[in-house]
Amino acid sequence: MSLSIPISHLALRRMTNDPAFQVDTAQRVKRLPPYLFGKINKRIYEKRTAGDDVIELGMGNPTDPPQDLVIEKLTEAAQDPRNHRYSKSNGIASLRREVGAKYFKKYGVRIDPESEAIVCLGSKEGFSHMCLALMGPGDTAVVPAPYFPVHVYAVALAGANAISLDVSNSDKFLSDIAYTCETLYPKPKLLILCYPHNPSAVVVEQAFYDEVVKLAKRYNLMVISDFAYADVAFDGYKPPSFLASEGAIDVGVEFTTMSKGYNMAGWRVGFCCGNREMIQALATIKGYYDYGMFQAIQIAAIMALRHTDAAVEQQSLIYQSRRDALCDGLSRLGWQDARPKAGMFVWQPIPEPWRSRMSTMDFAMMLLEEGNVAVSPGSGFGPAGEGFLRMSLVENEARLRQAVRQIRACLKEAEGKYNEVEGAAFAPAAVESQS
Ligand SMILES: Cc1ncc(COP(=O)(O)O)c(C=O)c1O
Repeated sequence: MSLSIPISHLALRRMTNDPAFQVDTAQRVKRLPPYLFGKINKRIYEKRTAGDDVIELGMGNPTDPPQDLVIEKLTEAAQDPRNHRYSKSNGIASLRREVGAKYFKKYGVRIDPESEAIVCLGSKEGFSHMCLALMGPGDTAVVPAPYFPVHVYAVALAGANAISLDVSNSDKFLSDIAYTCETLYPKPKLLILCYPHNPSAVVVEQAFYDEVVKLAKRYNLMVISDFAYADVAFDGYKPPSFLASEGAIDVGVEFTTMSKGYNMAGWRVGFCCGNREMIQALATIKGYYDYGMFQAIQIAAIMALRHTDAAVEQQSLIYQSRRDALCDGLSRLGWQDARPKAGMFVWQPIPEPWRSRMSTMDFAMMLLEEGNVAVSPGSGFGPAGEGFLRMSLVENEARLRQAVRQIRACLKEAEGKYNEVEGAAFAPAAVESQS
């Protein structure tokens, strides 16, 4: 006879936690800042569940598929029983060689695949574990502000401190780094860079990295370059690699990913190349924490790196057209033209009078609630992001144009309500001339 317990009883048992028992998480978890995008993500979910068609310009999660030949190779490799065992935690040698070949072909950089390259479960995993390998209590890292949350949280999770410096003016950023190294005690140990920058879309030329290497050597500062948007650039701009600057490999490493240009975000394939001692430190941590990536994915990733350069370029052109659709539309609303040269985001200043009237979070919530357009409020990237929206280019051109129409309608209505309440007249530059 089988014993059947009604589901309602099971649910009840799960819900009655013993109030006397306290789960006491580690300090490293407690000191994490609140996740500002949580509120928006929850509302997107609720709205979609209620049947609303939310246009999603929040996360940089690619919607286009990888190339057929890559998927076919994955299918084929998945049918080979030898590919289902644990793999190597630092990645199979042939994939590391392929990454080395790409660095040489694209940037003229020579990398020893044995000691200067490692495969990561997405660059975010590699980046976070690299911070754990390099940083500890009492250490400080310099991060660009506004910041991609992982750049700060990974440092915090390692028990170290992050100092954020304004990234908007590259010359000033360099002199601020020097000043911080001169004046802070103990001085920073690690410099985190990210160009094309997420979220601000700031880009640099190779000469910038030449200066970084000089600074790093002068102040004994290790460097991590997060080069996630290496493959997504517009109008002929070619994002330079930090590792292509002379001496860079003495002082740092660079993370790249197949998430963006190759549309393989869910596959979790990233790489770290550069300084062998830093790579070794990451390899040590990863050796304890993971058994490596599913081998079939690694084999398919080799195919993608070897055979899909043209598709990666084509993908950039797609993002460029989307960028133009969005920025043209917003310009017609009277918003500042913030067309990026690279990356997957428009870093859009919020126009007046809205900027002075409400917080960036409230503005983003208003666009979501009233306009069904989800954007990332700049304040989610730290105080330096207040007054900006980050708008991703993952929706197609028609949806982006539709998003602009919805923003226009939403602001027009909000302006009417605002005038009713305040009795205030103001010039509605943000809502006038949309075709
Ligand atoms: C700047 C930056 N670094 C790293 C990542 C994470 O990439 P991956 O998918 O390789 O973990 C992202 C993803 O959005 C990013 O924007």
